[in-house]
Amino acid sequence: MRDLLPGEIELWQHVEGLARELFGRYGYGELRTPMVEDTALFVRSVGEETDIVGKEMYTFDDKAGRSLSMRPEGTAPAARAYIEHSVATQEPLTRWFYMGPMFRYERMQTGRYRQFSQIGAEAYGSKDAAQDVEVMDMVARFLQALGLQDITLNLNSLGDEVCRPQYHAKLVEYLQAHKPELCEDCHRRLETNPLRVLDCKNPKCQAVAAQGPSVLDFLCEPCKAHFDDVQRKLTALEIRFVVNPRMVRGLDYYTRTVFEFVASHPALSTASTVSAGGRYDKLVKSLGGPDTPAVGFACGLDRLVLLLKESGKSFAQVPDLFIAAADPGSHDAAFALAGRLRHQGLRVDFDTRGGSLKSQMKRADKSGAHFTLVLGELERTSGQAKLKQMSNGQQWETSLEPAALIATVRTRKAESASGASSQG
Ligand code: HAM
Repeated sequence: MRDLLPGEIELWQHVEGLARELFGRYGYGELRTPMVEDTALFVRSVGEETDIVGKEMYTFDDKAGRSLSMRPEGTAPAARAYIEHSVATQEPLTRWFYMGPMFRYERMQTGRYRQFSQIGAEAYGSKDAAQDVEVMDMVARFLQALGLQDITLNLNSLGDEVCRPQYHAKLVEYLQAHKPELCEDCHRRLETNPLRVLDCKNPKCQAVAAQGPSVLDFLCEPCKAHFDDVQRKLTALEIRFVVNPRMVRGLDYYTRTVFEFVASHPALSTASTVSAGGRYDKLVKSLGGPDTPAVGFACGLDRLVLLLKESGKSFAQVPDLFIAAADPGSHDAAFALAGRLRHQGLRVDFDTRGGSLKSQMKRADKSGAHFTLVLGELERTSGQAKLKQMSNGQQWETSLEPAALIATVRTRKAESASGASSQG
């Protein structure tokens, strides 16, 4: 778990702001759910045999003896809220997005944390492949808007309750034949939830899984038609993808489409999946709600920020103006001027400790402020001062009247920005 300080937080705000704007454009409204839920919610949805529920949840009893867990993901809480508020009866096609911290007791490494943030979305009520492609399109546009490149969309279908049992049977047969090569945990998974063997991180188990039967060979006609339709619609939107028949997800609730956006940047090492999701047509009903098809995804915000940092982008906010007092007698007037300018929307820094002009100017330099203004006795009596541009030392005479001063700062700032871009 980490602290995020100013300097880094601007990157987070940039990513969150883009998500809000973009997801809003697709008609998704923001959902906020509590950070703790009944443990049973995750056991019944994500699955008891998954690493997330079996090994990684922060679970505790509250004072009334109820077992609660810090949410390890956002899909189950969203489904719970969807059912609890009878949303299906009010709005047959519902689109939600959410962002916030999730908790998993994982082995920490780059891009893998115990408190991490997800930005996710869930769409309820549509079975059509267009809904699957809509959510994948949102992720693709989001990553593009962030300027992130070299990300591959991996796509697979896990079938449904009609065709998956045949695949299961074949998989179990295959895994039984390779049992000696599997780890202890997978011996148990073979009995309880064989699909989870495909998700095991042990290299030996991964080698066995890689040679196993392909789920795509077992899809029933409707699942195959849906998968074909997803691929056709992705192509129509010019979204490139790779079909990866070995991809299973680390959560039990999926049916049909599953997908992962995987970055190739070395900075992420093994934590290379920046977004993942899929369809889960049975989850809402299994949690006691109406029979509702659904599909969604979640992006790992920490990983997106890591990639943005690597690209060298900075979103640091610097003051428009630094106001310095030339002498102790001008401290109060400088402070009052800073306040008035802030009230009217200017980003202003002022050293409340006072101190020598030299020390104030040192701070002005460090703050990265675009302009400085020194207020002394002369300026106070004349109502005029010099506005100095920090990047090149250029100076302009300006009135101290807030509206006029703000106008000067904004004009000069715009001029120097357009000058810099035309030179660049
Ligand atoms: P997930 O694959 O478990 O899916 O997580 C989604 C994303 O969250 C991952 O691809 C990764 O970027 C990020 N993530 C997961 N664990 C960590 C961690 N320990 N540290 C940093 N980032 C992490 C889900 O959570 C599903 N609820 C997605 C979904 C939504 N499916 C349908 N709707």
